[in-house]
This record gives sequence, C-alpha cells and structure tokens, in this order.
Amino acid sequence: TFQLLAGGQSAQAAEATGRTAAAGAVEQFTVPLTVPPVLAPYRRTKAADYYRVTMRRASTEILPGTRTDVLTYNGSFPGPTIRARSGRTAVVQQVNALDMPTSVHLHGGNNPVADDGGMMDTIAPGRSRTYVYENEQPGATLWTHDHAHHMESEHVYRGLSGAYLLGDRNEDALGLPSGAYDIPLVLRDAAFDENAAMVYTMDDADNRTTILVNGRPWPYLKVEGRKYRFRLINSCNLRIFVLALTDGTTDQHPVQQIGSDGGLLAAPAETPVMVLSPGERIDFVVDFAQYAPGTKLTLSNMLGPGPTELVGQVMRFDVGEKTPDSSRVPAALATLPALPKPTVERTFELNMDEPGTGSHQAYINGRTFDANRIDTTIRWGATEVWTVANKSTTIPHNFHTHLVQFRILERDGAAPYPAEAGLKDTVLLFPGQVAKLQLTFNSHRGVYPYHCHMIDHSAMGMMGQMKIV
Ligand code: C2O
Ligand code: CU
Repeated sequence: TFQLLAGGQSAQAAEATGRTAAAGAVEQFTVPLTVPPVLAPYRRTKAADYYRVTMRRASTEILPGTRTDVLTYNGSFPGPTIRARSGRTAVVQQVNALDMPTSVHLHGGNNPVADDGGMMDTIAPGRSRTYVYENEQPGATLWTHDHAHHMESEHVYRGLSGAYLLGDRNEDALGLPSGAYDIPLVLRDAAFDENAAMVYTMDDADNRTTILVNGRPWPYLKVEGRKYRFRLINSCNLRIFVLALTDGTTDQHPVQQIGSDGGLLAAPAETPVMVLSPGERIDFVVDFAQYAPGTKLTLSNMLGPGPTELVGQVMRFDVGEKTPDSSRVPAALATLPALPKPTVERTFELNMDEPGTGSHQAYINGRTFDANRIDTTIRWGATEVWTVANKSTTIPHNFHTHLVQFRILERDGAAPYPAEAGLKDTVLLFPGQVAKLQLTFNSHRGVYPYHCHMIDHSAMGMMGQMKIV
C-alpha cells in the first residue's frame, strides 16, 4: 500500500540526503527542536480565557544562519500553542495585520458556523475578528490554520498554522505524561531557494523536500529516560508521513498511540507505523526508559517498497539518563460515543486532473467547488453513512469534514486499524481506496464544508458544502 504513495511524492528519495538548495549546509539532527510558546490569556474570567493574536509578517531563522520571511500568528513560526480546557470558553481575537484577507479555522473544533473560520468568512486586512470557542467536546489535539478561499494553501504553507491542545478532566485523571513531557510536534515540509526564501508553487509536492518540526529542519530532541507524550500534527499541504521509530538497525520500536483527530482512543494501540496525512493528528507515548542512555532513535518516514526501507528522516530523539516517572498509560482511555443507527447513505468520489495535463482542477462527485452551491443537504440529528472513494489512480487524497467528528466503519471492506478506530475528522485515502464513515449531525446547523485536506487540492476545487437543516 505504501508503494502507491510514492506516485505523488516521487522526489522523496532526494530527501534521504537531507539537503536542499539553501539547506545545503543543513546536516540532519544538528538543530535542537524548539517548542512553540504557549499563548497566555490577557484576561481570565470564571468561564472564559481571552486571547489576542496578531497575524503578521515576520522574518525568522528556519535554516541555520539564514532568515526566511514567513506569515505568522504573533510572530511565531509555527504559531503559539493555545492550551484550552473542555467546557471552558476560549475567546480569541484575531487581528489581521497582513495585506490580504485571512480566515482562522479551528480544525477539529465543534463551534457554531459563525466561529468556524469558513473560507468565505474572511477578515479584511487591517480588521480584526473575535472567534468564540466553547470547547464543548472531549480533550483533543486540534489546530488552527488559515482558510481564506483560494489563498489557504499558500497562507498555511507560509506559516499560518498552530497547535490548539484541548485538555479535559477524564484525561487529567489518567496520569498520562504531562507538562514538559507533553510536546506538540507540528510537522511540515517546504521548498527553499538559494536565498533561504520559501518557494510556493501550487501542487508542487516534489520540491518540498525540507522537513520541519515545529519550524526547525530535521531537529533533535534530548529526552530523559522516561515516558513522553507527543502530539503529531501534519500541517503539510500535501505530504503524507508513514512514521516509524528506528535506531538505525531496526525500525521495530512500536509506540503506543493514545489518540487520533478527535481525542483519546478507547484503548492504547501499539503501532509500529503511524500514518499521518495532511490535517490528521496522532497522539502517542514513548517510554524512553526502555533504551540505554546514549541511544539515538530517529523518527523516520518510510515510503519505500519494503518495511525497513527508510526513505526520509523527520527528527531524532537522543536518550539520556533515566529519571523518575510517575506517569502511566492506562489500558482504558476514553469511552467513545455510541454509534446510532444510520438512516441515510451517500457517496463521495474524489478526483482531479492528472498531473502533467496542465490542468489544475479537482472535483468531488464531478463538481469543482462553488461557494454559491449547496452540495449536500442534511437533517439535523441524522446519522449517516458516507462512502468516500479516491478515484485518482496515482494521487492520494484525504477527506475532512468541518464541525463533525466521524468514525471509520470500514476501509476497503475491512475493519479500520485500531489506530484509526477513534474519533476522526480527516481520513486518508490511497489511490483507489474506499472508506465508509459514520457521522451524526447533532451539533451545528448551517452551511459548512468538507474537502480534501491536501490543501493544494482543495484550493483546486476538491471541496463541497453541506447544509444542516
Ligand atoms: Cu483543516 Cu477546512 O480544514
Ligand atoms: Cu486531494
């Protein structure tokens, strides 16, 4: 299956050398991982935290010793992390100090349409907008990113994304690694020219060969010999990661996946590989106490034909001395909502003009996005089963729904992997693949989109609108 991925990512082999034009001097694992700052509220009341964010241009060090112009939330690349609490409102004022319209979408959030950051609901340059997030949903790894129509793909690429980590009481009681041992890893790729400028070309997966974690190229992280929780967010426009931990001789170092897009899994899933397409999140725990101090483990992206053929690196963990660790990963993590009986079935076919045809058009059910068209009308409260098929022969796609978490019932007729059996808002579809999803529309009325989250594709029209009535 992983071979099929190579079609859309053929130049990935070049990445194995760890070099790009401007990154010629970047040796892998020489730059320390940084963790984006946690945004402090400027005001707290009994029920809500108030934040202010300014979207502005900044110049930042990405490749060592060079400066790169980026688009930022508060000057940070990626944006600062918001740590919110389930059931407690976060009020985020977004000031647009850029010279183009923006829209801030909380991906995976459960909010009224007016606060969703839709693609047409933009903030004009010089204006601001206050989004109210009620956080009426279980704890989860969410993220914010730009969604201004036809611009989202370049805006996100240039830096408008950041983690939004929602905690809750159930999670507190579990005793998972927390505080400094709970680290977001925002993954992405980029293409740089010889002046270290980021180059954006629509649908140009092949040249985005520098891998950044939290904005730094192929970083390393010194870890203590104890458990850590990591929140992977794939904020790439197009790249799919198939990640394994390897010590250079074997990649058989399974991790414990504890969560997916919409929150914790029912039970931890021991997984040798973590598959993460754009927009998806994986929450996992590694116990570094099992490795001798001095062990170096790389998080590698395996897209080769064989299970041990490593095609690219992402980052490295340098294991230190054992330290006291009272955290744990209980055998039961969360109770997933029941699956009501579905009453409606629908089919969605994803397709786009093949690369090389010179055409940049993408479709769902044969139609390219039209903001004035409602593609799907749904009754509030309904439970539906959606069959989503990737009709492209060489290009992977995925499928993301706004404001509703779904469950994957089947993938090509088989049960989903344990790692994707929890709450999901984005599902990866390899070329030719079909997934069956179950969705219950019991939160917000109004019009909102579903789309491929390989966002160059959604910018090319692989997006539709549903209306919940
Ligand atoms: Cu993260 Cu409409 O998407
Ligand atoms: Cu796509």
